[in-house]
Amino acid sequence: MLPSSSRSRSQPRAGMDYLDSRRKKHFLGKILMTVFLTAVCIFILKQSPGFSSTSMHGMLKFSQHEPGVTHVLVTGGAGYIGSHASLRLLKDSYRVTIVDNLSRGNIGAVKILQELFPEPGRLQFIFADLGDAKAVNRIFRDNAFDAVMHFAAVAYVGESTLEPLRYYHNITANTLVILEAMAKHGVRTLIYSSTCATYGEPDKMPITEKTPQFPINPYGKAKKMAEDMILDFSKNSDFAIMILRYFNVIGSDPEGRLGEAPRPELREHGRISGACFDAARRIIPGLKVKGTDYPTPDGTCIRDYIDVTDLVDAHVKALAKAKPRKVGIYNVGTGKGRSVKEFVEACKKATGIDIKVEYLERRPGDYAEVYSDPSKIRQELNWTAKYTNLEDSLKVAWRWQKKHRNGYVTFLTS
Ligand SMILES: NC(=O)c1ccc[n+]([C@@H]2O[C@H](COP(=O)([O-])OP(=O)(O)OC[C@H]3O[C@@H](n4cnc5c(N)ncnc54)[C@H](O)[C@@H]3O)[C@@H](O)[C@H]2O)c1
Ligand SMILES: *[C@@H]1O[C@H](CO)[C@@H](O)[C@H](O)[C@H]1NC(C)=O
Ligand SMILES: *[C@@H]1O[C@H](CO)[C@@H](O)[C@H](O)[C@H]1NC(C)=O
Ligand SMILES: *[C@@H]1O[C@H](CO)[C@@H](O)[C@H](O)[C@H]1NC(C)=O
Repeated sequence: MLPSSSRSRSQPRAGMDYLDSRRKKHFLGKILMTVFLTAVCIFILKQSPGFSSTSMHGMLKFSQHEPGVTHVLVTGGAGYIGSHASLRLLKDSYRVTIVDNLSRGNIGAVKILQELFPEPGRLQFIFADLGDAKAVNRIFRDNAFDAVMHFAAVAYVGESTLEPLRYYHNITANTLVILEAMAKHGVRTLIYSSTCATYGEPDKMPITEKTPQFPINPYGKAKKMAEDMILDFSKNSDFAIMILRYFNVIGSDPEGRLGEAPRPELREHGRISGACFDAARRIIPGLKVKGTDYPTPDGTCIRDYIDVTDLVDAHVKALAKAKPRKVGIYNVGTGKGRSVKEFVEACKKATGIDIKVEYLERRPGDYAEVYSDPSKIRQELNWTAKYTNLEDSLKVAWRWQKKHRNGYVTFLTS
C-alpha cells in the first residue's frame, strides 16, 4: 500500500476533494471527541473531593491567613499516617491542605475526610507531585500556610535496598523542594516525619535521641540525610522545627473511619500488620516471618509498636510547642520492645484466626532489636503512649480491615 502523501500527489482533482471531505469529517470527529472528553473530565473532577466542596468562597479561605486559625499543609495526607493526622487536625479545628500524588495514598481516605468536614475552608485536596518544584512553588504561592507536616515519602525498608535511588529522590530530594518552598514563601514551622531507621542498629537499648545515628539501609540513610539538611538549614534561620522519629506504626482510627490500606501492588513489601491481616483473610496463605536466628530471646526481631492515634497526638503536641529558632528532636515510641512472635500471637487473638506462620531466612536490611526511650518527649511535650496493648490496637485495625476488604474503594468505582 502506498503512503497517503504519495497517493494524494498522484490523484486527480476529484480525488483531492474526496480527501478534503474526509479530512473535514475527521476534524468534526476530533471536535466531538474533545467535547466528549472534556465533559467526562468535568464529571470526574466534580466527583473528586477537591472540587466538589471547594467553592470560590472556600478557596479564598485557604489563600488568606485568618487570625486564630492555623492552616497546616499535610504532605502525603492521602497515606496511612497522613490521613490519620489530617483527621485529628480537622477535629481540633485546624485548617488542612493535603498535597499528595496518590502514588501510594488513597483518594478514598481524602473523600472520607471531605465528607466529615464539608464546611468551606476546612479541608482541601491538591493533587501534585512533590518532585515537581514548580508545582510546589505554585501551591505555596496560592495558599497561606502556617505550618507544614511533611509525611510524603516512600517507606519500605526492603524496597529501599532494591531501589535506593527511588528513596533518595522521593525522600531526600523532595524534602529539599519543600524546605526551599517554605523558605521562599515564609512558612516557618515544620514537623518532619523521621524514623528509628536513622539509628541503624545501636549497641545499647533503649534508643535515646542522643544515640548515634548510623543507618544501615537506604531508607534510613535517605531520612537521615533529610534530617541533616533540615538541621543545617535551621542553624541560620528562624524556623520552628520538630523532628519526630517514629518507631513501628500500627493501628487505626478507633471510630473506624480510616485504616491502613496500602495499595495492592505494595503487598509484597508490606509491613507486619498488613501482612497479618492479609493472612487472616486468606489473601495470602500465611505469614512469612523473616529471620529466627537473631540474638533475641525468641530469635525473632524486636520492635517498638506505636499506635497511630498516639503518633498523631504527638504531632499535634509538637506543633503546639514548636518555637522559632528552636529544633526539637523526639523519639515517638512506647518504650517497650515486642518480638515478631509476640506480635503474631497478638494478631491471632485480635482476629480470632489461627494464622499459618512460615519461618524463613533473614531479609536484607533488617536489624535485631529496636525500641525507644520515650522520656524526652514525655518531659518536654507531655506526651506518652496510651494505646500500649498490641492486641487492642490490632483489634481496632482488624475491624476496619474486615469492613474494607478492598481497602479504600476509589470514587470512580464506588
Ligand atoms: N509506617 C511506619 O511504620 C513509619 C515509621 C516511621 C516513619 N514513617 C514515615 O511516616 C511517613 C508516612 O508514612 P506512611 O506509613 O503513612 O506511608 P504511606 O505510603 O501510606 O503514605 C505516604 C504518602 O505520600 C504520598 N507521596 C509519596 N511520594 C509523593 C510525591 N512525590 N508527591 C506527592 N505525594 C507523595 C503517597 O501517595 C502516600 O499517600 C513517611 O515519611 C514515613 O517515612 C512511617
Ligand atoms: C508521584 O511522584 C513521583 C516522584 O516523586 C513520580 O515519579 C510519580 O510518577 C508520581 N505519580 C503520579 C501518579 O503522578
Ligand atoms: C518516586 O516514587 C514513586 C512512587 O513509588 C515512583 O513512581 C517514582 O519512580 C519514584 N521516583 C524516582 C525518581 O525514583
Ligand atoms: C499533661 O497531659 C495530661 C493529659 O495527658 C494533662 O492532664 C496534664 O494537665 C498535662 N500537663 C501539663 C503540664 O500540661
